[in-house]
Amino acid sequence: MKILIPIIFFIFCLLFSSSSSSQTSMFEFCVANYTAPYSPEGYSCKSPEKVTIDDFVFSGLNLPSNTNNLAKTGFRTVFVSDLAGLNGQGLSLARVDYKAGGVVPIHTHAGASETLLVLEGNLTVGFISSDNTVFLKTLNPGDGIVFPQGLLHFHVNQGNASAVAIVNYNSPNPTFQYVALSLFSSDLASRLVTAITFINPSEVRRLKALLGGSG
Ligand SMILES: *[C@@H]1O[C@H](CO)[C@@H](O)[C@H](O)[C@H]1NC(C)=O
Ligand SMILES: *[C@@H]1O[C@H](CO)[C@@H](O)[C@H](O)[C@H]1NC(C)=O
Ligand SMILES: *[C@@H]1O[C@H](CO)[C@@H](O)[C@H](O)[C@H]1NC(C)=O
Repeated sequence: MKILIPIIFFIFCLLFSSSSSSQTSMFEFCVANYTAPYSPEGYSCKSPEKVTIDDFVFSGLNLPSNTNNLAKTGFRTVFVSDLAGLNGQGLSLARVDYKAGGVVPIHTHAGASETLLVLEGNLTVGFISSDNTVFLKTLNPGDGIVFPQGLLHFHVNQGNASAVAIVNYNSPNPTFQYVALSLFSSDLASRLVTAITFINPSEVRRLKALLGGSG
């Protein structure tokens, strides 16, 4: 008889906890509460009773993004800032559109590796390892690539038609650091840019003017 009491208590606890859906869901997702600041761990959790299906669903990736820019490329992102349900899930995605000649210039994501899947057109993609080995391939529709975390990489549409790709990141908030923007959109003094890149001063000034930098 004595042994039955803890067993009955345990069963009671199980029944009680499974009937409390908000308590359960607290451990199954952490939908972003955007009113609290973003931290390295992500956003704090929205109260589970306020969470709806719309926190997890995204749409619009059937539509092209705006490619009227210098790179002739546009992104439609589904990052944690766009979709609260991505908070804490360690992934995100985007649609990328490229006009003929469109590029995603050489860049890195500090905290994410990336896969790219070509849906339309042909894309020449590559990454460069720290020993300066170039890994390069032209992909056709249905082909994809993984860019290892932290390595410099790029996408180029060398074809005559537009191209479309889907990219996925193993971070809900993949930061983009473009080498050209770091050097030529920033206010790093031109003489320092020349010193650290060996690019001649007139070319540094031209690129700063093109990309909106100062100094
Ligand atoms: C979001 O966080 C704020 C500040 O901590 C809090 O007042 C608010 O109730 C939270 N909203 C939801 C939906 O959980
Ligand atoms: C893609 O490349 C193939 C050859 O690999 C070529 O036949 C096709 O026309 C190209 N498509 C585009 C949109 O450039
Ligand atoms: C792209 O267009 C150029 C000039 O119009 C042509 O020479 C070339 O063959 C075309 N390439 C493809 C892949 O269609």
